[in-house]
Amino acid sequence: MEVVIYPDAQRVARHGAGLVEAMLGAKPAAVLGFATGSTPIALYRQLIGRYRAGSLSFKKVTSFNLDEYLGIAPDNPQSYRAFMDREFFEHVDIDRSNTHLPGCPPGGNPQKVGPRYEAMIREAGGIDLQILGLGQNGHIGFNEPSSSLASRTRVKTLTPRTLEDNSRLFKSGEAQPRLAITMGIGTIMDARRILLLATGESKAGAVASMVEGPVSATCPASILQMHESVTVLIDEPAAALLKNREYYDRANRENRALKERFGEFYAER
Ligand code: F6R
Repeated sequence: MEVVIYPDAQRVARHGAGLVEAMLGAKPAAVLGFATGSTPIALYRQLIGRYRAGSLSFKKVTSFNLDEYLGIAPDNPQSYRAFMDREFFEHVDIDRSNTHLPGCPPGGNPQKVGPRYEAMIREAGGIDLQILGLGQNGHIGFNEPSSSLASRTRVKTLTPRTLEDNSRLFKSGEAQPRLAITMGIGTIMDARRILLLATGESKAGAVASMVEGPVSATCPASILQMHESVTVLIDEPAAALLKNREYYDRANRENRALKERFGEFYAER
């Protein structure tokens, strides 16, 4: 695992955007996995800026989002489809027909969405770079604690903790979905490269469990310890509970020196 700690969330977003840019430079038709939530918004703004500056194009990109609420229509402003349109897709040259979320159309059978989504990811050639946020309870996607570490895309019941964490995004009286369809942990682990962003002190406990705790379904993100190509980008407040902080900083200094000598894609994991 590459753990990189920055003084602030802005630098986290900048590094993340650099990795996306490097990926698209190497493979303009890459398959990207996107996340919603507050954390990646700064990353999306960075990417939009780079697109406007002409250094980046999403024209050939295919994308798959991690998750979508169940029971709200795509044109509901609270849907993750609406979030992605608003925060990212509308501002870049991505072909909207190549963007996918695991939503279930009204009246559709939600149990059928998962296998179909898995098939679509496979047919696209698999995910080259998956962007992740981190729940305060250690979830990735909506794979809540106790999720099977081998799970595939499916319906998940959100925990009281996640419902409470996300209630800030819903106005009083507005219905908050209690179920979602999410890529499974096995689906996420199939991505060739993973980029996880976590910022703010509310994430410090989950970051410590993910990086330094035992691999356990109690902290679903801890499974990332078993992926060969994960970069964890965090800010100081999110790093506050890491025990081996000095080691990560030293490893990063060494990695930077090696990257300068041998090229961008070298990194110690
Ligand atoms: C969103 C998602 C979630 C969020 C996580 C953190 O698509 O899959 O796992 O990444 O809940 O959310 P924020 O960034 O709002 O703290």
